[in-house]
Amino acid sequence: MDNTFLTILFFLFLSTLHHPISASNLHKFKQLNSDFLAQSTSSHHTHTPPSPTKYFEVTKPIQLPKTKPCSYHVLHHDFGYTYGSPPVIANYTSPSHCSSNKFSKIVLEWKATCVGRQFDRIFGVWLDGVELLRSCTAEPRTNGIVWIVEKDITRYQSLLLNHEKSQTFAVFLGNIVDKTYTGVYHVDVTIHFYPFVVNTHKTKKINSLAFGSGFHADLILPISRNLPLNDGLWFEIQNSTDVGLKEFAVPRNAYRAVLEVYVSFHESDEFWYTNLPNEYLAANNLTNNTPGNGPFREVVVTLDGKVAGSVWPFTVIYTGGVNPLLWRPITGIGSFDLPSYDIEVTPFLGTILDGKSHVFGFSVTNALNVWYIDANLHLWLDAESSRTEGELVNHIDKPLVESLVSDFIGLNGTFLTSAKKSILTTGWVRSSFGNITTSFVQNFDYYNKMVMAKDGGKQTVNQVIFFNDSVRAKLPLSYLDLVDNTHRRFSLYLDTDELEQNNDTYLAVSNATLGFDVNKSHSKGSGFSNSFLNNVQDGQGTMVVKKNLVISGVGETQQDYRYKSDEYCYFRKIGVSNYTILYDKVKNSCNKRSRSRFGLNYIRKLPIML
Ligand SMILES: *[C@@H]1O[C@H](CO)[C@@H](O)[C@H](O)[C@H]1NC(C)=O
Ligand SMILES: *[C@@H]1O[C@H](CO)[C@@H](O)[C@H](O)[C@H]1NC(C)=O
Ligand SMILES: *[C@@H]1O[C@H](CO)[C@@H](O)[C@H](O)[C@H]1NC(C)=O
Ligand SMILES: *[C@@H]1O[C@H](CO)[C@@H](O)[C@H](O)[C@H]1NC(C)=O
Ligand SMILES: *[C@@H]1O[C@H](CO)[C@@H](O)[C@H](O)[C@H]1NC(C)=O
Ligand SMILES: *[C@@H]1O[C@H](CO)[C@@H](O)[C@H](O)[C@H]1NC(C)=O
Ligand SMILES: *[C@@H]1O[C@H](CO)[C@@H](O)[C@H](O)[C@H]1NC(C)=O
Ligand SMILES: *[C@@H]1O[C@H](CO)[C@@H](O)[C@H](O)[C@H]1NC(C)=O
Ligand SMILES: *[C@@H]1O[C@H](CO)[C@@H](O)[C@H](O)[C@H]1NC(C)=O
Ligand SMILES: *[C@@H]1O[C@H](CO)[C@@H](O)[C@H](O)[C@H]1NC(C)=O
Repeated sequence: MDNTFLTILFFLFLSTLHHPISASNLHKFKQLNSDFLAQSTSSHHTHTPPSPTKYFEVTKPIQLPKTKPCSYHVLHHDFGYTYGSPPVIANYTSPSHCSSNKFSKIVLEWKATCVGRQFDRIFGVWLDGVELLRSCTAEPRTNGIVWIVEKDITRYQSLLLNHEKSQTFAVFLGNIVDKTYTGVYHVDVTIHFYPFVVNTHKTKKINSLAFGSGFHADLILPISRNLPLNDGLWFEIQNSTDVGLKEFAVPRNAYRAVLEVYVSFHESDEFWYTNLPNEYLAANNLTNNTPGNGPFREVVVTLDGKVAGSVWPFTVIYTGGVNPLLWRPITGIGSFDLPSYDIEVTPFLGTILDGKSHVFGFSVTNALNVWYIDANLHLWLDAESSRTEGELVNHIDKPLVESLVSDFIGLNGTFLTSAKKSILTTGWVRSSFGNITTSFVQNFDYYNKMVMAKDGGKQTVNQVIFFNDSVRAKLPLSYLDLVDNTHRRFSLYLDTDELEQNNDTYLAVSNATLGFDVNKSHSKGSGFSNSFLNNVQDGQGTMVVKKNLVISGVGETQQDYRYKSDEYCYFRKIGVSNYTILYDKVKNSCNKRSRSRFGLNYIRKLPIML
């Protein structure tokens, strides 16, 4: 192997479990996956930095109270050959050794190290079947890597602080270790409980009616598969007709219900937003080996057969996706902490308060194998009564309008896919708070423009999803009416090109822009609060591929993260290239004057990452 190249071995289009599958460029990327492993011994160790590389996802820090946390080390495990095994479990008992039993923040810390060679693997963390975290591992290097994911899990406090029984804490991470894929993931999970600062929980009492953001459920039911299982606690949705079903029953005094849905996509649908229309694949005789069904996907949630809501997911790119070098050391948006999506099911409560069992169903429009989906049902219970009642009064599930305009000759072509949908549900629930009518509205819009050029050697995808929803609660006293609006825009630009070189060698060039806007507004009577989050990554990567082997490559990524709310702001601009941080500016105050001071302080604190 050519000594002038830094030999980088890694895996393209890592697919989290079984076989890696490519999705972007039609021909060559696909072949790369099967036989790209041939380590160069000549350049081995030449550039190996001594210490492990620290990977991280750029996101705003969790706002913590100034109290000393009570920490609980829940699990240690070395995930070696875990594929096909049941989830790893530990007993969890609500912390009784803490000096306080009221906490204002609860943070889950996942810390992992790995050395060697390994794919990116999807994993999930559950407590008594309630999913707390969906995430993807980082891909190791020969000198080792370390990464930490911290997630605010305060919303699960009723479960975490349940003193009645010991609960099962489960982690499923399907990994394969052999002579080639040597990476074992050494994992520690710790939960940190931060007590309240004395005298600050007054506001909680005043707002005993827990509607709107910031109030946590009294009970959380798992809408996941039951133990014991070999493949995690999620449902595996394998095609467009497959439905994951879960029976459940709610206490008869619930007055609010929110279904939190976790979603991740793998194998043939890992890059669903790049999948080609079937008519193109058929015309080019590619139906056997190229993922199709076009680039539109929708996760549909039903309750007793009626559509309760949908999720048009954010395009998370896992750590091995597109060009793995783009995600080192900053990882793709959402890859270490996949977003979950809330569906307000309060309008349906009246139909499930009968004490009997009911069924949630999950399906994915146009799905290919495989989607991992499960959910948590957050319930608020009426402390003053043993029975609430309600009725679903309006349910409009406008059918999905999907359109495709194709124009292709051979392997060259342009495809415009668009989709639109809205769902509205309204229902009332009468509890000791009075008779409250809740409406939940979701509005979706989707556009995808895909261009195939160079006889399939170049693919460009431009996609945008608008995903708005609103929850309105009409209270007996109208000056207390609540409105929560969330407007989301998920965007993706992906350009992958192959430039032929000499001697069976080509250059794979990928540019990606991945980002979202999430704007939230909350109003309660005359009170009003807003938050804006805009998070965008731009990446440019090249890989030199010779005889199906990646022999060198480099990736650069710039990220711009901007969060603004009435109480708190956080801005970060960071650029990385080839495992190194080029610049990193942080401003965590809304006040412009403090900018440079914060920026400088932060930079000094960063370790050198190579
Ligand atoms: C959990 O506790 C039970 C009962 O105390 C015990 O039998 C079991 O082995 C424990 N499981 C783990 C994973 O520690
Ligand atoms: C879809 O997947 C389900 C579950 O694996 C399977 O039973 C069914 O036959 C599949 N349907 C089609 C059309 O492939
Ligand atoms: C499609 O590909 C298969 C396998 O490569 C080949 O046997 C078949 O003849 C091809 N069909 C057409 C219509 O090109
Ligand atoms: C609750 O309010 C709705 C809408 O105003 C009304 O139709 C319903 O009858 C009320 N329910 C009760 C039990 O008062
Ligand atoms: C979503 O809300 C934005 C305003 O933030 C609006 O421009 C857009 O049209 C809405 N989209 C849908 C599908 O409702
Ligand atoms: C496809 O487009 C490329 C340029 O991107 C061109 O060289 C090639 O001839 C085209 N193939 C066909 C079948 O038109
Ligand atoms: C979010 O708010 C910003 C600032 O008002 C606006 O530019 C952006 O378009 C909004 N995004 C969405 C999805 O509504
Ligand atoms: C390409 O091939 C030529 C002669 O066949 C050789 O001299 C050259 O070193 C090769 N280049 C690479 C990058 O392998
Ligand atoms: C990809 O990014 C590089 C570097 O910024 C730029 O020169 C090139 O034009 C981009 N290509 C495309 C197709 O966007
Ligand atoms: C990437 O970084 C390594 C050191 O870690 C260096 O040896 C190599 O030349 C760099 N490659 C590029 C393309 O900058």
